[in-house]
Amino acid sequence: MARFTSSAAILLLLLLLPTQLLLTVVSRRDPALRLPSEREINGDDDTVGTRWAVLIAGSSGYVNYRHQADVCHAYQIMKRGGLKDENIIVFMYDDIAYNEENPRPGVIINHPQGGDVYEGVPKDYVGEDVTVNNFFAVILGNKTALTGGSGKVVDSGPDDHIFIFYTDHGGPGVLGMPTSPNLFADDLNAVLKQKHASGTYKSMVFYLEACESGSIFEGLLPEDINIYATTASNAEESSWGTYCPGESPSPPPEYYTCLGDLYSVSWMEDSDVHNLRIETLNQQYQLVKARTAVGNTYSYGSHVMQYGDLNLDAQHVFLYIGSNPANDNATFIDDNSLRSLSRSVNQRDSDLVYFWHKFQRSPEGSSKKRDAQKQLLEVIAHRSHVDNSIALIGNLLFGSEEGSKVLSAVRPSGQPLVDDWACLKSTVRTFESHCGSLSQYGMKHMRSLANICNAGVKKETMAEVAAQACTAIPSNPWSSLHRGFSA
Ligand SMILES: *[C@@H]1O[C@H](CO)[C@@H](O)[C@H](O)[C@H]1NC(C)=O
Ligand SMILES: *[C@@H]1O[C@H](CO)[C@@H](O)[C@H](O)[C@H]1NC(C)=O
Repeated sequence: MARFTSSAAILLLLLLLPTQLLLTVVSRRDPALRLPSEREINGDDDTVGTRWAVLIAGSSGYVNYRHQADVCHAYQIMKRGGLKDENIIVFMYDDIAYNEENPRPGVIINHPQGGDVYEGVPKDYVGEDVTVNNFFAVILGNKTALTGGSGKVVDSGPDDHIFIFYTDHGGPGVLGMPTSPNLFADDLNAVLKQKHASGTYKSMVFYLEACESGSIFEGLLPEDINIYATTASNAEESSWGTYCPGESPSPPPEYYTCLGDLYSVSWMEDSDVHNLRIETLNQQYQLVKARTAVGNTYSYGSHVMQYGDLNLDAQHVFLYIGSNPANDNATFIDDNSLRSLSRSVNQRDSDLVYFWHKFQRSPEGSSKKRDAQKQLLEVIAHRSHVDNSIALIGNLLFGSEEGSKVLSAVRPSGQPLVDDWACLKSTVRTFESHCGSLSQYGMKHMRSLANICNAGVKKETMAEVAAQACTAIPSNPWSSLHRGFSA
C-alpha cells in the first residue's frame, strides 16, 4: 500500500513538474529514486541489491601455482572492496600453500614483491569439489545440485550484481578443471542464459583468463542478457603466464614457477591502485588490453576482447567489486602507471619452463634432479604423442594434402567454434579412448576436433581412424585416463 502511494505521488509529480526540477527534487530527497532515463545514463545504481563474486581457478598442481595465486589475489580485492564473505564464493584446488615445493609454507604470492594473498581465503569448494557441476550449481543458486563444498551459492535477487572471474588453461571452446570433465563453452553459455531467465540478477561481469578464451563467448554469449565479458585472448591465440623464472621482473630466486597470469594481474593490479568508484569497466578494459598486448607486438601478449552487452561498460567497476576505501581520494589517471612486462611465458609452455627450471636448480645427482628430468621428458613425449596422433587422424580423414588445412581452419569471427557441441564432446571421448588423455596441453587441439565435426565426419569413421592412428595408449602419466574423459 505504501509503495502504491509513493508511486502515485511520483506520477503526480511527473505530471506537474518540469523534468529538470523533478530530477533535482527527487535526487535530493532520495538517492535511490531516479528516473528510468537517468538510470540508463548513469547505470550505476548500487543503493539497492547485493554484490556477489564467484572466483575460480581451474587447475591443480604446483606447476600451475599462478592460477590459484590469481584467485587468492582476486579474493583480497573483493574483500577490500567491501564484499562480505557470504557473497564471495571461491573455487580452488588448494594444493599450493602447503605444497612441499612451496618455498614459503602457508603463503601464496601473486607478484615478485607481493605479500601473502592466501590469508583468509574461504575454502568453499576445494580439491575434488572443484567441478563443472558445482560451478554451475553455484552460479544458478541451486543448493540441491551441489556435491560437497561449503554449500555457499549465488543466492541472488533481481537487483543484484554478479562478478565472475575464472583463470586457468583452456583451448578452443573449452576451459580446464582440476577434475573431469572440462568446462565446455556451450554449457557455460546455457547456464548464463538460464540464470538470466530466472531473473536473479540485474547485470553481470565475467572476466576470463585462458588460452583461446575468446572462443568461449564468440558467437555464443547473447548481447541482451545483461552480461559484459572480457577475455584474456581472442578465440585463436594463447594467453600468457607472467612473473615467470627468467623474466623481468622475475619471481624471488626460490621460486621456479610463474606467479601470475598477464591478463589477470593486469586487471587486479589496476583494481588495487585505482578508485573503482570512478573507473569505468571500459577504462579498465582499455588499460588491461594495453598492458596485456605487451607493446602491441603480440609476440609475448594477447588481444583482450569484450563480449556480450557492451553498453554495460560505461558502468563503474565499483558496482561489481566495490572499491578499496584507501583509494577513495585517488583521481583516475588514464594511464598505466603499472610497469609493463618485458616478457611473459605462453600459458601452454609454462609447464616446460617449470620442469626445466626445477631440473636445472636441483642438486647434481639428486633424486629430485632425476625426477625433474623424468617429468620433463614425459611432458615432452606426451605433447608429441598428442600432436602426432591428431595430425595422423587429420591425414587419414582428409588426405595428407588437405589434413592440416582442414584441422587448422578458423571460422569467421562471430561464429562459434562448432555447431554441434555434442559431436565435439563425443569426438573428444573417441580420441581419448584410443589415444589416451588429451590432458591440459591437448586442449589446444580442440579446434581440430571441432573441425572434424564441422566437416560432417561420422562417429564410426572417427572411431576407426583413431584406432588406426593410435594402436596403444602410451604408458605416460599424462596419457592416463584414470581421471576420466575430458568431455
Ligand atoms: C536444481 O538441481 C536439481 C538437481 O540437479 C534439479 O533437479 C532441479 O531441477 C534444480 N532446480 C532448479 C530450480 O533448477
Ligand atoms: C580523503 O579525503 C578526506 C578529506 O580530505 C579525508 O578526510 C580522508 O581521510 C581521505 N581518505 C583517504 C583514504 O585518504
